[in-house]
Amino acid sequence: MSILILAGSSRKESLNKKLQQRIAERAKALDVACHVYPAEELDAPMYQGDYEAEHGVPASIQKLVTAIRDCSKVVIVTPEYNSSVPPLLKNAIDWSSRVDQQPWKGKTVLLAGASPGRLGAMRAMDHLRAVVMNLQAWVAPMFASCPNANDETIQKMDDDFLKNFLQQGD
Ligand code: FNR
Repeated sequence: MSILILAGSSRKESLNKKLQQRIAERAKALDVACHVYPAEELDAPMYQGDYEAEHGVPASIQKLVTAIRDCSKVVIVTPEYNSSVPPLLKNAIDWSSRVDQQPWKGKTVLLAGASPGRLGAMRAMDHLRAVVMNLQAWVAPMFASCPNANDETIQKMDDDFLKNFLQQGD
């Protein structure tokens, strides 16, 4: 079993990258193999049909699709922009749905997110749930939300159900 951990912010000091690292540390402590996917590698031109017709699916997205296919479960750590999913992540997911043999179909996905606000990216995760369910992924019923996120609160986040998710068999 291996877990792919995606984060939706390429910002240097991203809180969501820190949450991604924390989840990876948790997985390693439980002896669960994980692939911490660099957010910078989600970068791709904004999806546009004419661009796709001329150039096909970008290499960065083909790499992402391979990583999704190769893992048994995915954790997606999303920031919240204006109550929704930020464009880096949404664009990468949109592109990833443009390949033959849908990589998300049947994949088990846990949604996580951190925000300095008191709702902890819950609204972004709610929107993201609709997106990945549309791609026929199985979405875990609970969100790994970190409200009032900063370096300290991320480390103290309650994550018992995260442990359950990481340890569940396929
Ligand atoms: C935000 N932020 C934000 N936060 C939130 O809790 N709800 C929101 O609706 C928004 N909206 C929003 C829009 C835009 C355009 C930006 C740039 C930011 C704040 C956001 O949560 C904060 O900047 C996080 O630190 C971004 O995540 P990373 O980059 O730290 O992972």
